[in-house]
Amino acid sequence: MSDKYCVIGNPIAHSKSPDIHAAFALETGQDIVYERCLAPLDGFADTVRGLIARGYRGANVTVPFKLEAADIATRLEERARLAGAVNTLRFEDGEIVGDNTDGPGLVADIVRNAGVPLAAKRVLLLGAGGAARGVVLPILQHGPAAIVIANRTRATADALVEHFAGQLAHPGQLSSCGFEDIGASFDVVINATSASLSSAMPPVPALAFCQGTLALDMMYGKTPSPFMQFAASHGAAVRDGLGMLVEQAAEAFAIWRGVRPQTASLLEQMRSKL
Ligand code: ATR
Repeated sequence: MSDKYCVIGNPIAHSKSPDIHAAFALETGQDIVYERCLAPLDGFADTVRGLIARGYRGANVTVPFKLEAADIATRLEERARLAGAVNTLRFEDGEIVGDNTDGPGLVADIVRNAGVPLAAKRVLLLGAGGAARGVVLPILQHGPAAIVIANRTRATADALVEHFAGQLAHPGQLSSCGFEDIGASFDVVINATSASLSSAMPPVPALAFCQGTLALDMMYGKTPSPFMQFAASHGAAVRDGLGMLVEQAAEAFAIWRGVRPQTASLLEQMRSKL
């Protein structure tokens, strides 16, 4: 019998994860089934218990359950603990192990797919919510010169810097500011705010971008987001979040199956279908 996995969310009908994992399974010859699972808003834990009882081996977790998934995990990987959120669960030996592949997925997309190494680079991270929090450690692990976290509510960015203080290779590697304090250009600018969801853009000044800047929006859609359009008009190379989506799935697949799927042709195929 095939090993069973699913993605749990609410809503879930839009999720591309089943298609991505089906493609990975085909490419790697792994015998799995992967489904969508709609959990009631007040029934995430019961849903997970039901999956375990029915022999599922693991699950991805999406909006709005990533924090709850961290709460119900009986063990958390370091990167999930620091992210405070879980997007990948594995059910093994009576344990619910929580991991987070969103940040590693973003970093893989930047380093491998876009070909931009993060070592010694200056990175500007826009936003200080859950999405931003999940990418700080994976970026730090690549040895950037600096990560500056800019947020509309400055205090939230300050708290995030405090949270990661113990992980720093050298003081000053991580700092926070308001958007109005951004006074120089960066090698990489990541939009981790939820502004693109409402077709808005964070108030990042044009001088944050220059020729050679990579500007990445974690969101994706048929057309470039206002952030991507603005960054491109000021000389940046731009990228949306589709690569991050595929790479976070590849990382989850590797955790579950011990084999890392190829992502390049799938990413191209998905982009052509947007
Ligand atoms: P997520 O889990 O997607 O990160 P979140 O935790 O609610 O969602 O965080 C949303 C982030 O987007 C926050 O950093 C928020 O800024 P505030 O902390 O000031 O609320 C940011 N954000 C949302 N809309 C924005 C906008 N129009 N301009 C700038 N920042 C915005």
